[in-house]
Amino acid sequence: MIQIAQIGVGYWGPNLLRNLMAERRCRMLAVADASEERREFIRGLYPGVQTVATAEEAFACPGLDAVVIATPARTHHALVMAALRAGKHVLVEKPMATSVGEVDEIAALAQRKNLVAMVGHTFLFNPVVRYLKNLIDSGELGQIRYIYSQRLNLGRIRSDVDALWNLAPHDISIIQYLLGDPEPLAIRRTGMDFIQPGIDDVVFLDITYPDKVLAHVHVSWLDPHKVRCLTVVGSKKMVVYDDVADNKIAIYDKGIEPKAILGERMDYDQGLPPTFVHRSGEVRLPAIPWKEPLKNEIEHFLDCIEGKAICLTGPGHARKVVEILASQPH
Ligand SMILES: NC(=O)c1ccc[n+]([C@@H]2O[C@H](COP(=O)([O-])OP(=O)(O)OC[C@H]3O[C@@H](n4cnc5c(N)ncnc54)[C@H](O)[C@@H]3O)[C@@H](O)[C@H]2O)c1
Repeated sequence: MIQIAQIGVGYWGPNLLRNLMAERRCRMLAVADASEERREFIRGLYPGVQTVATAEEAFACPGLDAVVIATPARTHHALVMAALRAGKHVLVEKPMATSVGEVDEIAALAQRKNLVAMVGHTFLFNPVVRYLKNLIDSGELGQIRYIYSQRLNLGRIRSDVDALWNLAPHDISIIQYLLGDPEPLAIRRTGMDFIQPGIDDVVFLDITYPDKVLAHVHVSWLDPHKVRCLTVVGSKKMVVYDDVADNKIAIYDKGIEPKAILGERMDYDQGLPPTFVHRSGEVRLPAIPWKEPLKNEIEHFLDCIEGKAICLTGPGHARKVVEILASQPH
């Protein structure tokens, strides 16, 4: 039995806790939250679980192996470092920290102590994203040309981080994962703060990768529509991943190719302006078996602790995501 404590049970934390409670390989020793109201809420849901006010009290539980952190982003670095110093494995919500230097400190300490430090980039544990990754890796889409995503809503506004830091860790982690964690060549951020000074409500992020691959991320909590959509354009096929649709993945057999014109020596040698063929074939809507991503994420965390898996979202992956998020000040 892996003995676990969770820090933070505000809006998101209860989802992690529900999955931890259902997992047979672990046992919850304590749940910490600074808010008495939240602790009372958790005692109502799970009467057997001990609740405490501080992380320190949770870390002090005898026999504790691991800590799950779901507190606001700016508290992550200090809490992860404290957990690692106390000798505990850590799963922390996204982003792992708010600067590359902080991620590096976490990486160094986790390595020195031989502990797991994992960030909860939930979408990498989503069966639909996994399906899309397999599709790309199989070569069915051809060479990836560009990816763009939209994560929009008239949504929950935060005051501690802006829309990019709150929403884009998802999109950036998905794009990095799909492309095999490449090093961006250039990043350009355009955003604006309309509601709270210094906190962008909408951000457009452009990333240029090697081999002529482009990505664009559009995040906003100030939008009339709830949109969770990612489009991948490949040289052979194109895919739309719509997270709020019934059919989450649509594979389009579409593309544009130059039309061969017979020349004297070979095709295309006549010096005429090129002409193109638009290919518009079938649309495939694959059925993808569903399993809750958070369940997969927690199973992976436990596998990593037990030495059965190499962490998919460890400091190496987390660092690139934070590097992209932090690439330009707003
Ligand atoms: N994976 C996802 O889809 C997803 C969705 C929403 C939020 N999140 C992430 O979850 C984390 C929490 O977000 P939220 O929306 O639940 O925030 P929240 O503000 O609703 O909840 C945070 C909770 O942590 C408690 N807390 C803060 N500092 C603490 C400390 N030092 N010790 C003990 N308790 C402390 C607060 O009292 C609060 O109850 C963030 O990192 C956010 O990015 C992830």
